[in-house]
Amino acid sequence: MDLNKIYVGHALEVLKTFPESSVNTCITSPPYWGLRDYKTNPAQWQDGWVGELGAEPNFNQYINHLCDVFDEVKRVLKDDGTCWVNIGDTYGGSSLNSSYRVKAKGETSFLNSVDHLQKVAHTRGKYSKSLLLIPFRFAIEMMNRGWTVRNVIIWQKPNATPQSVKDRFTVDFEYLFFFSKTKKYYFEQQLEPIKQSTYNRCKTGCGINKGANYQGLNKKNFERIQKRILDGTIAGRNKRTVWQIATHAYHGAHFAVFPPALIETPIKSCCPEGGIVLDPFIGSGTTAIVAEKLNRNWIGIELNHEYTKLAEERIAQIK
Ligand SMILES: C[S@@+](CC[C@H](N)C(=O)[O-])C[C@H]1O[C@@H](n2cnc3c(N)ncnc32)[C@H](O)[C@@H]1O
Repeated sequence: MDLNKIYVGHALEVLKTFPESSVNTCITSPPYWGLRDYKTNPAQWQDGWVGELGAEPNFNQYINHLCDVFDEVKRVLKDDGTCWVNIGDTYGGSSLNSSYRVKAKGETSFLNSVDHLQKVAHTRGKYSKSLLLIPFRFAIEMMNRGWTVRNVIIWQKPNATPQSVKDRFTVDFEYLFFFSKTKKYYFEQQLEPIKQSTYNRCKTGCGINKGANYQGLNKKNFERIQKRILDGTIAGRNKRTVWQIATHAYHGAHFAVFPPALIETPIKSCCPEGGIVLDPFIGSGTTAIVAEKLNRNWIGIELNHEYTKLAEERIAQIK
């Protein structure tokens, strides 16, 4: 297995060639179900699914194919390894959400294709207008296959695309699932700044002197933490699970790229310097770029030759 290289091929097939217990963490965003045609392989079966992931006519098939890929990811992860998956949802029934209509150069939208009509049919009736909850169906199948779900991160997008719907709210977030292979895994705690309001509460004492408990803390414990916050011994608080990060414009032929800030925290917390980050659906190469900047090795897999060339150009620029 060569480091700092994009392998071109189907993620499942390429992963099978990698040695077991060799990678520190996997960070990836697979193709979402029924959303886009990445122009890689025609959707087809040959002793199993060899077509593009996300093009399956049925979302249960999609989840099974995806989890088959993550079974292989689990095999190549070290025992203290972890896996981060950004995955989006979709509504059943009529047409897909308008925010999904964005097409990159050369891309065919599913919206007018036979594939899309099949998918609409699959989710018509009882699922019509309903969120299909694909991220959670996926996470539950991952649990069934032995992964531990450590966090569900909400990636909140302050610049989310407006939607024309009037009978529900505009969706402005996506999920980032944090799985571990085993229960003891490599993790560097990440801190975020303590809020000014917390300092203010520490200064005033929050009524603790009048005998009230504060957020479950009695006077003694409150004062102990209060002192450590005010004298700077506690440098920050444990990072929270709602991450506000703007989507990142990328003007090449690719789209749906990771904002670098989204994957910095997973890399810093789950891969030591000099370790290996894997992205089996690397697209435009963002995982490689952030890994390079943070002094980590990386391995990418991508089915589409054109995207691979683009990604290699981007990576060469930062090198
Ligand atoms: C959502 S995009 C990933 C974007 C990436 N996170 C970035 O920042 O550019 C998913 C990628 O998976 C690729 N892909 C689709 N099916 C694949 C398969 N079976 N094996 C490997 N890559 C695949 C697509 O071509 C696409 O580039």
